[in-house]
Amino acid sequence: MEVTIQGQRRHFRTVAFDAASNELRLIEQRLLPHEFQVIATRDFRASARAIRDMVVRGAGAIGATAAYGLAQGALAFRGNNLARFETRVTHVFETLRDARPTAVDPVNAMLEVLRKMQAGTTVAARQALALTAAENFADEDVAHCRALGEVGAPLILEGMRVLTHCNAGWLAFVDIGSATAPLYAAQLQGRSFHVYCDETRPRSQGATLTAWELAQQGISHQIIADNAAGLLFARGQIDLVIVGSDRTLGRSGEVANKIGTYTKAVLAKRHGVPFYVAIPLSTLDWNLPGGADIPIEERDAAEVLGAWGLTKSGRREYVRVANPGSAAFNPGFDVTPPDLITGIITPVGIFRPRDLWKHRRRLGA
Ligand code: MRU
Repeated sequence: MEVTIQGQRRHFRTVAFDAASNELRLIEQRLLPHEFQVIATRDFRASARAIRDMVVRGAGAIGATAAYGLAQGALAFRGNNLARFETRVTHVFETLRDARPTAVDPVNAMLEVLRKMQAGTTVAARQALALTAAENFADEDVAHCRALGEVGAPLILEGMRVLTHCNAGWLAFVDIGSATAPLYAAQLQGRSFHVYCDETRPRSQGATLTAWELAQQGISHQIIADNAAGLLFARGQIDLVIVGSDRTLGRSGEVANKIGTYTKAVLAKRHGVPFYVAIPLSTLDWNLPGGADIPIEERDAAEVLGAWGLTKSGRREYVRVANPGSAAFNPGFDVTPPDLITGIITPVGIFRPRDLWKHRRRLGA
């Protein structure tokens, strides 16, 4: 996506890889919207930490980081012993997989890299194949987001008011985004509309990241507190909801997404507003039988008990908001059942959630 930084318009990918130095280049998302910085991770452990600490976040972006991280770990191996190489690769895979549990994209991305590596019969061949496979995953992520934008754009009509939750924009992918892709495509087609960004406590990805992206893109938007959506629905001020997903179950049609998504889906159903989920194919999980099986990440209580912001002097600081001494419970995701979802927007069409399994071949299962 094009970004204006200090008056200069430049294209950035959220996640990129420099093969010469074996380094990943990541936009440091914790600093946005106040500061734009690209950081380097020099080995797979640092790449895993960047995922865990949310330097990079969002399903597709951590998928690409994991794919490149696996290649990075494989490329750092010295020697010709294939058995030792495979042991190292398994360790790299597990380290990256365990960094965050809910999104399925990192696992899907790394399994694909491992599958492609099997065609090599030497360490050097497998290292080269790993890098190519990681590059392919990143490019495919961009292609899928572009395609689902084309598929979803007709849903965005002139003058619509669209609600989105968290950040399923280009920062959550390698480029373009999932929930934002139909918006960007509709804008390119000349339509104007207004977006309400849920603030998305506790980490405020809507207020910080989605709002920043939409501002960069020149799309009319307002941030609303998470609790404000009910009033807007009741007043008829929301025409359409589009969110992303961290794991969509191909067997049941259930959708795991940022905590608070389920609440918005219930409200949309109550008020007869269409509720769509936009995903690339790497977000589909064809194995888990039901939503109760999805591992829901629990994050540090400090995220709920306080907030990060910029002081008047420009320093980034954490402030405690909650009652001193009170504890907090901080689940990162919830699961929305299929009967609350109007359609799943994919690169190959829009499907009713319960029809995903029927169309699994088209959807890459
Ligand atoms: O915890 P995050 O920020 O990594 O959560 C991911 C998200 O931004 C949302 O759940 C998003 O809607 C899906 S990721 C495309």
